[in-house]
Formats: sequence, structure tokens, C-alpha cells
Amino acid sequence: MSKIRVAIHGASGKMGQTVIAALSCEPDIDIVGAVDIKSPSGTCCLPDGRTVPMAPDASIIFASCKPEVIVDFSTANAILPLARSAFEHGVRLVSGTTGISPDSLSEIDMMAKEHHSSAIIASNFAIGALVMIHLARIAARYFDYADITEQHHQFKLDAPSGTALSTAKAMAAERGRPFLNPEQKGGLQESRGLKFEGINIHSARMPGIVARQEVLFGADGQTLSIKHDAISRECYMPGIKLAVREVSKQTGLVFGLETLLGL
Ligand SMILES: NC(=O)c1ccc[n+]([C@@H]2O[C@H](COP(=O)([O-])OP(=O)(O)OC[C@H]3O[C@@H](n4cnc5c(N)ncnc54)[C@H](O)[C@@H]3O)[C@@H](O)[C@H]2O)c1
Repeated sequence: MSKIRVAIHGASGKMGQTVIAALSCEPDIDIVGAVDIKSPSGTCCLPDGRTVPMAPDASIIFASCKPEVIVDFSTANAILPLARSAFEHGVRLVSGTTGISPDSLSEIDMMAKEHHSSAIIASNFAIGALVMIHLARIAARYFDYADITEQHHQFKLDAPSGTALSTAKAMAAERGRPFLNPEQKGGLQESRGLKFEGINIHSARMPGIVARQEVLFGADGQTLSIKHDAISRECYMPGIKLAVREVSKQTGLVFGLETLLGL
């Protein structure tokens, strides 16, 4: 069985390190290189004791290690140059970096198609979180009021989270009109959070949390709460492995794992 040759972008980061540990245990995946802007050219040590080349620039690793897939967890401003270089080198892209603009996503789709290549980008690889969004979409048909509260570790750069926005968009699309949101006459407007299609979105950033989201629906005499709690970064690994195995079967950009999971 030939193994899928994978390189990791953002390899020194929290997600990069967890992805290296998870993928290096897979019998059908071979980690062949690593990239991180803050690492000088050299080697990266894998959990099994092997070392692979490491460089600050992905194009060096594309040319020397010939990966088939690059898995990226870095920053949003790195994604366009990375995608361009990947497709030019015949490398497919799997990215979980959040905060990527809709314009950048369109450009990645265009570039991937031009090069007969593909990308899977997902703002959340935790399968439980995707099921949460799916359930929230169903509940959106039956409730007029909704709030989303998301909580993340203190180092998360963007707010609200990509998952909170994706959830709110899915709920509003399913409902076909904004949720009801009573006008606040007194007090401080900020205390109600960000308003999106009538949904209030609240964000907390603090140590002790990886990622957590609760969608709360309200109706006369009842509430429905749908909650997902990511206790450790391991929760993202099954989704990332699925994307690595599926990306070569796609064309252009697949945004989100929902279709791959049949949700
Ligand atoms: N989609 C998901 O399921 C999911 C889950 C967790 C985190 N994330 C996202 O993943 C991203 C990374 O998160 P993290 O917690 O690992 O952050 P981190 O800061 O720990 O790691 C990011 C790494 O990327 C490197 N980097 C930055 N710019 C680069 C560039 N131009 N080229 C190469 N390397 C570069 C940094 O040096 C750093 O080592 C964030 O956008 C975060 O929101 C997504």
C-alpha cells in the first residue's frame, strides 16, 4: 500500500504539534516534511524518532520532499501564498486555519480548479461540533429566539469563532428569516453580544478552555440547549485524517467537512 505523503505547515504551533503526533501513528500516512515561519531550515523530529526536513518556507519543502498533501494550521494571512505555492507544486491543501476571508476562499477555489487540484478547508474539524451545527440547523426551524455562546483559550486571534459564525449562518439559512430579538431599551447594548440575523453571539477568551460552544434556543415555556465541548486538541484529529484521505478525490475547494460526513 502506498502511503499518502504529507507535510505540515505551522508545524511548531499547538495544532501543528498535535497533528504531527496524530498523523505519524497512521499506517497509510507518511509525514515527509514540516514548515514553520519561526523555524530555521533543519529537521523536525517525529514521535517515532525519525527526522524529516523542516524549513521556514513551504516552497522549499514542496520542492525537496514532494508531499502530496499539505496540512495547514497557521494564520489567515499565510493561506493565499501557501495555496498558490502548493497548487503550483502539485500539492493538495487541507487547512484548519480560521479567519480566512470569503474573497480568499473564492481565490483558493479558482486556483485549485486552474491547477486541477483541490483543497479542504474547515473552520472546525471536530466531528461533534459539526453534528452540533447540524442539530442547531434542525432546531432553527422550530424556535424564534436563539443565542450562541462560544468560549476559547486566550490565544485565539479571531472572535467570534469561525464555528459560531458558521452555526449562525446555517441556522439563519434554514429559518429563511432573522430570529426574533427583543429591542433592548435600557442598560448597555454591548451586554447582548454581537447580533447576527437576530442571533446574539457571545465570545469568551480565557485559560482553562480549549473550545466550547452552546447554542440556546428559546420558546414559550421551554429552552433547548445544544452544547459541544472540545476537551483537548485530539478532538480535531479524526476530521483531519478524513480530510487528508479524501482531498485527492475532490476538485476545487471543499469548505467544511459536512458533505464528507453526509450531514
Ligand atoms: N479548524 C479547526 O478545527 C481548528 C482547531 C484549532 C485551531 N484552529 C486554527 O488553527 C490555527 C493555528 O492554531 P494554533 O493554536 O496551532 O496556533 P499557534 O499560534 O500555536 O500556531 C501557529 C503556527 O503557525 C506558524 N506560522 C504563522 N505564520 C506562518 C507562515 N506564514 N508560514 C509558516 N508558519 C507560520 C507560527 O509560527 C506557529 O508556530 C488558528 O487559525 C486556529 O484558529 C482550527
